Amino acid sequence: MTDAVDLAGQLFANRVFAAAGCAGTGRELPPQADLAGLGAVITRSITPEARAGLAAPRLAETPSGLVNALGLPGPGVEGFLADELPWLVEHGAAVIVSIAAESAADYARLAQRLRQVTGIVAVEVNLSNPVTDSGRLPVAMDAGLAGGVVHAVRRNTAAGIPVLAKLAGDTTDVVAVARACAGAGADGVSLINAVRGMGIDVATGQPSLGAWLGGLSGPAIKPIALRAVWEVHAALPELPIIASGGVRTGTDAAEMMMAGASAVSIGTALLTDPAAGARIREELAVIAAQREGGYAGLLGCAHREVTA
Ligand SMILES: Cc1cc2nc3c(=O)[nH]c(=O)nc-3n(C[C@H](O)[C@H](O)[C@H](O)COP(=O)(O)O)c2cc1C
Repeated sequence: MTDAVDLAGQLFANRVFAAAGCAGTGRELPPQADLAGLGAVITRSITPEARAGLAAPRLAETPSGLVNALGLPGPGVEGFLADELPWLVEHGAAVIVSIAAESAADYARLAQRLRQVTGIVAVEVNLSNPVTDSGRLPVAMDAGLAGGVVHAVRRNTAAGIPVLAKLAGDTTDVVAVARACAGAGADGVSLINAVRGMGIDVATGQPSLGAWLGGLSGPAIKPIALRAVWEVHAALPELPIIASGGVRTGTDAAEMMMAGASAVSIGTALLTDPAAGARIREELAVIAAQREGGYAGLLGCAHREVTA
């Protein structure tokens, strides 16, 4: 039984990916993280220019997850292409580049720049950037804006390279946003990004992160991710979904697939267990082997039990 998966015409060696921003540049991970053993490594979101990110502290633990307010620190697209992408490719990673910008035109320029290089298997459009055309709210909260950004990226990306729209779980109608993105040319969706949240430090009476607004990730958001995957798969069954949100075990991954995901990406779990990818892949393989049809038998199977 092979665990390779074809997503929008691109073949991935397996269904367990590293989620955006959670594998660093790859270099920080210990050798047992085995980048080549992951189905793909989704990079942190790459921006047009280098960014220092937000003031510390940037991470706060919660009883069942993590709130982060990083502010997309990174070397900008030129630094990424000069230094990080070659290293990832050299180490056997299938690289999906996540991009983030503050306007549709800048997203388009990023896509154009990535088009000029080799070694990228897909582009993921991070639509959760709060500093966007829409003002305060992330683009992912507005179907029209999200579709506009995806259209700009798709037009500027080579035909054989899938464009994945990364959506928010805390939007009112995730199906409407997914539909708009698919209509604008997205070849698949990544569901979900960290959910907007915050922390308060009782000692100081101030927000516990450098910025008041952060993103909640980890086990706390798994039910939200499952619900979003379920809804989008029910409405758009042909649209490939990469699920992220609290996946820590093969059972979590199987649940995401049963709700309709073709693959999963691991975020917060990698921060405490950099080798989680290989373990989750093995656990998922055991569960898939027990199902009729293997991995295909898992995909969306929970829907078949429901009579609406
Ligand atoms: C430290 C950290 C950094 C992240 N950076 C990014 C990023 O650069 N771009 C992005 O689209 N998502 C980013 N995310 C969101 C993750 O990719 C993932 O979608 C989310 O955390 C939910 O998955 P999880 O519960 O497994 O962490 C980040 C999450 C964390 C915890």
